[in-house]
Amino acid sequence: MKFQKICVLGLGYIGLPTASTFATHGVQVIGVDVNPEVVNTLRNGGLHIQEPGLRTLVQAALRSGNLTIQNQPAAAEAFIIAVPTPFREQKRADLRAVEAAAQAIAPLLQRGNLVVLESTSPPLTTVEKVAPLLEMSGLRSGEDFYLAYVPERVLPGSILRELIENDRVIGGVNRASAEAARHLYSLFVRGELLLTDATTAEMVKLMENTYRDVNIAVANEFARLAERFGINVWEAIELANRHPRVNILHPGPGVGGHCISVDPWFLVEAAPDLARLIRTAREVNDGQPHHVVEFARQAFGDLHGLRIAALGLAYKADVDDLRESPAIEICRLFQQAGAEVLAFEPYRQEPQVDGIPLGRDLNQVLQAADLLVVLVAHRQFRSLSAAAAAQLMRHRQALDAVNLLNRAAWEKEGFQVLKVGEGLR
Ligand SMILES: NC(=O)c1ccc[n+]([C@@H]2O[C@H](COP(=O)([O-])OP(=O)(O)OC[C@H]3O[C@@H](n4cnc5c(N)ncnc54)[C@H](O)[C@@H]3O)[C@@H](O)[C@H]2O)c1
Repeated sequence: MKFQKICVLGLGYIGLPTASTFATHGVQVIGVDVNPEVVNTLRNGGLHIQEPGLRTLVQAALRSGNLTIQNQPAAAEAFIIAVPTPFREQKRADLRAVEAAAQAIAPLLQRGNLVVLESTSPPLTTVEKVAPLLEMSGLRSGEDFYLAYVPERVLPGSILRELIENDRVIGGVNRASAEAARHLYSLFVRGELLLTDATTAEMVKLMENTYRDVNIAVANEFARLAERFGINVWEAIELANRHPRVNILHPGPGVGGHCISVDPWFLVEAAPDLARLIRTAREVNDGQPHHVVEFARQAFGDLHGLRIAALGLAYKADVDDLRESPAIEICRLFQQAGAEVLAFEPYRQEPQVDGIPLGRDLNQVLQAADLLVVLVAHRQFRSLSAAAAAQLMRHRQALDAVNLLNRAAWEKEGFQVLKVGEGLR
């Protein structure tokens, strides 16, 4: 089986690196996105997302002549669907983009083609939702064309390396489909290709993210307990993790991003009677921004009129992605409590995000602030000097949700330091 021409639908954080990597490995790739801005930006040599190394990779792919950008799919030997799967109201999976992509592929489908769904999806999506839409072509999945679910587990910030090095789970609707998908991904994946069925592969992806969500929920709950008992949860977790079979993750401002904070809900929706712990973990993590703001109120009193310098809006360190970010939620809650928030997000240049004004640089944001709130452990913040902040701020108060500030150094400069997971002193 040869894959000389493939079509990748969705050119975001997953689809664009995937399309470009295939292209730089000698495959002709039609990259498709329904968003005209994405298509225009890429065609004009620009980039609509930030990811280390991506600009160079996309430019190389375009220069090779193997990657073309279009707003609709065209005939190919394999189709990869990498469109978004967010949730709608009441935390229900929004599969409209997956369905639209499958519908767009159906008229182009030919005998012997392979279709791969990469988008994170609820259990049974491949066999119960995608297969019937593709079979509108008159061809049967597993018999006339191959169909597989191949989840992506890359880490934003390291996507280009992990895309190639990570082991991949390949779930076919039958063995022949899994073998076909293995053949396709073996063109560039150096990790192991692990074959299974499509629904198991869907579950594997959801289980991975749910496991992390539940683990972070217990860490957040440990943090709240530590705050009540007047101990330091960061030290306690470090000590507990010295147990050879314990690995507790870190507490923080909450859980964001479009993966860990979304995917567990797909399991809750699919089996609400069974996924009780999973739902509770989601609720604990979704409640963490409220907890952080309440903790600040206990320590610093009335928040009304307070000028807050918020450091970071991304959902995690060293990425530009703001989706479902708990940092944004915390800023909104501070605003609702009557505080005046000015945020600095080194990865964003726009003047405001979701009604939260952004400063140009750290100095502008710290100037005359009453309270410094560290919400994301971006590399740029690690060198923040307590002495410099003390010079600029009106009051020396700091709230650290990510354990970034060195308490002793900041207290030496006269700061009252509050840390998530450490009891009030
Ligand atoms: N970003 C990650 O780190 C990551 C990791 C693992 C899995 N995933 C999953 O991969 C999928 C894609 O995520 P992403 O982060 O790349 O999303 P994204 O929002 O960055 O990109 C998706 C792109 O698809 C386009 N699109 C929407 N409908 C389309 C259609 N019908 N045809 C063609 N293009 C269409 C959008 O315009 C957008 O540019 C999601 O299911 C996500 O959960 C993402």
